[in-house]
Amino acid sequence: MSFVKFMSGENIPLEMHKVRMVQKVNLLPVEQRLKAIEEAGYNTFLLKNRDVFLDQLTDSGVNAMSQEQYAAMMRADDSYAGSETFYRLEAVLQDIFGMKYFLPAHQGRACEHLISKILVKPGLTTIMNYHFTTTKAHITILGGIVEEIVIDEGLKIESDLPFKGDLNIDRLNELIKKLGKEKIAFVRIEAGTNLIGGQPVSMNNMRMVSDICRNAGIPLVYDASLLGDNLYFIKKRDEKYKNADIKSICREIASMMDIVYFSARKLGSARGGGILVNNEELYLKFRDLIPLYEGFLTYGGMSVREMEALAVGLEETMDMDVVSQTPIIVEALCNELIKNGVPVVTPPGGLGCHVDATQICAHLPQTQYRAGALTAAIYIASGVRNMERGTMSEQRNEDGSERFAEMELARLAVPRRVFTLSQVKYTADRISWLYQNRNLIGGLEFTEEPKVLRFFFGRLKPIGNWPEELAKKFREDFGDSL
Ligand code: F0G
Repeated sequence: MSFVKFMSGENIPLEMHKVRMVQKVNLLPVEQRLKAIEEAGYNTFLLKNRDVFLDQLTDSGVNAMSQEQYAAMMRADDSYAGSETFYRLEAVLQDIFGMKYFLPAHQGRACEHLISKILVKPGLTTIMNYHFTTTKAHITILGGIVEEIVIDEGLKIESDLPFKGDLNIDRLNELIKKLGKEKIAFVRIEAGTNLIGGQPVSMNNMRMVSDICRNAGIPLVYDASLLGDNLYFIKKRDEKYKNADIKSICREIASMMDIVYFSARKLGSARGGGILVNNEELYLKFRDLIPLYEGFLTYGGMSVREMEALAVGLEETMDMDVVSQTPIIVEALCNELIKNGVPVVTPPGGLGCHVDATQICAHLPQTQYRAGALTAAIYIASGVRNMERGTMSEQRNEDGSERFAEMELARLAVPRRVFTLSQVKYTADRISWLYQNRNLIGGLEFTEEPKVLRFFFGRLKPIGNWPEELAKKFREDFGDSL
């Protein structure tokens, strides 16, 4: 995908693919959207897809596959042990990352479970640019501590820094000095830092972190789930890599790491996951756990069809037309919103467009889940399913008090090759309308609150009858239009 200049001088994102299979979607009238979100306990995870117009909840497992991926699925070698499919996938991964051993797992969090099981002990600290929800849950459930050291700029909504996911090198050195290597489980770099707006990490920063970890003898783990987006930004925003070939950047990154893991629901546009290591001793430790938790070593919980699709999808990811898909649409969506004054995370990152609920819902106390309220309001205003990435996505402190998120965001994920430009413009239009009517958005409170990862299944209710008022205003302003 690329931005192409039109006669008007406007730069328009142009798709480098055509669509040959479609799925019908429904746009319910606002009154029915209101009913659907009520039934879902104001939690967009609990909406039924039949009630959703554009599913921008996530880019995980919902990317459009290519004809070559579908074709590859037909040749899957379905055997429990020693399947040809596994060896094909292993060879592609070894080629892309230049690493020796590949261990399959059913998805990204399964890798996090195994890595934590091997490296985390009660009281040990894991240092990272920023946590992902499942990563942190797996570490803390084992008694580990998470320290986040993303640079200060990373937590600012608006910025023009190209790599806001970078780690603060001074803090890394300080923590190593303070804790000592024995008290550190591992250091983790997350590509395309998810919870702070899909922000990339620079090659230079990775290199510095890697040198420090190697000198100190601390394992360095790379979460490559959002590597595709990060690769695009390295080529676009780092002059030194402008002409570098994507595979060579992948190999250079992997050469700095001890463990690379990924969710293939994002990277490679299929479903599954895996861990790559060079060290034989470490490989053998993982090898013991794979059959116990995932499945035999030649499928690790993945279907062989998905593994075939993944092998092709990973190869296709080594192409600027593919890795640009999400970042360019995210940029187009952000630009439309910025034009209408809506505050979003900048520079536009990968993964999705992140709308700032702290500013939009400044009239609500943080205890009333600003991002959760905005997420539900966006669904009411548009039928677009988006995801809360704020305080609801945090876990309470041990004493039960609320742990407020550093950023309160409504995330509009952009799965690869799924939506058209007119759909993106529709999303931007309805959110801009909501922004003009932001004073109508009220707070939420939990009626059912699970202890772990509460954002998945938690149910909430509105404080007051603001959802009805919002729907009423929508009907007044849009007349018969959906
Ligand atoms: N790491 C990162 C950076 C992720 O974004 C995710 C998933 C995972 C690990 C876990 O992978 O889902 O395959 O188990 N992110 C999805 C999202 C769920 O919607 O952002 P998984």
